[in-house]
Amino acid sequence: MRQVDIVGLGEIVLDWVTEIPHFPKPDEKIDALSENYFPGGVTANYLVATARLGGKSGFIGAVGDDSYGDYLIEDFVKEHVDTTYIKKIVDKKTPVNFIFVAKGEKTIIQSPHMQTTKIEGNDLNEAYIANSTLLHTTIIHQKVTEKAIEIAKKNNVKISIDLESQIALRGWNNLKKVLLKADILLPNKEGAKSITNSNKPEKAAEILVKKGIPIVIITLGSNGVLITTNEFQKRIPTYDINNIIDTAGAGDTFNGAFSLAYWIKGWDLKKSCKYGNAAASLKIQKLGARTGMPKEKELLDFLKKNDDTFL
Ligand SMILES: Nc1ncnc2c1ncn2[C@@H]1O[C@H](COP(=O)(O)OP(=O)(O)O)[C@@H](O)[C@H]1O
Ligand SMILES: [Mg+2]
Repeated sequence: MRQVDIVGLGEIVLDWVTEIPHFPKPDEKIDALSENYFPGGVTANYLVATARLGGKSGFIGAVGDDSYGDYLIEDFVKEHVDTTYIKKIVDKKTPVNFIFVAKGEKTIIQSPHMQTTKIEGNDLNEAYIANSTLLHTTIIHQKVTEKAIEIAKKNNVKISIDLESQIALRGWNNLKKVLLKADILLPNKEGAKSITNSNKPEKAAEILVKKGIPIVIITLGSNGVLITTNEFQKRIPTYDINNIIDTAGAGDTFNGAFSLAYWIKGWDLKKSCKYGNAAASLKIQKLGARTGMPKEKELLDFLKKNDDTFL
């Protein structure tokens, strides 16, 4: 077993990505501009973002007993994400997501195998979680997440949660047990809205902090991010990017770079958010959730060029 600093518990999937000139209407047939496949999955992408920047990270989760699963594991090995606790499940399929990119905007259709190809509580290795610094999750599989969080809490491991809209739709009452254990919540605008019923990110974040989540950072696409704690609320704008190719994985990249900066490097919230915004800025200039995720040097060069307040 390799000791890692950041453990990610959640989903890993294959992304089929096609660029299209516009989204077809029912009964319409159009020609795609490109056809591609990439390794993906919110939690898996997040870990690759941290590993590219020099973090020591490992994944806990499952793939199916098929060639897609092999491909995803091999890719993790190439990216130096620890695969000790990936389980290959016999007679289950590796999930495939269908991603349509029209003029830089993504539409995603998620695999039903996402909910069936998963690990159970007794697959968790306590020491692996206990020896890490941060447990990051999307709560995709709630039971096993609750168990992993319990292990983390017992061992002073920090907890970071990315709340996507489809998960948030389970409702506060179903999720509060998990969400209130978070040291930090990292939803995008849609996730924050779904969990609070508030359309305004400022208000949504205040609601979540009042309920007892100490730090909430809502990602706001081209508007950067909003940090909210009991002490302050501040928006950190992002950088002007004019050749946006694909925003899939933007949030995962922000979350990964932010987490490494804040929890592992020990930087403050604002500086860590700039690091995250800059990493996401590089990501969105390439097709595929992980293609444009920067290595550390590329990210620091970008910041040097684009942000004289960074250092
Ligand atoms: N159009 C964009 N222009 C510049 N930066 C962007 C854009 N879209 C996303 N980003 C960056 O990626 C981060 C996450 O994007 P967001 O769309 O909020 O999350 P998600 O990908 O989870 O939906 C943003 O906070 C920002 O740093
Ligand atoms: Mg996201």
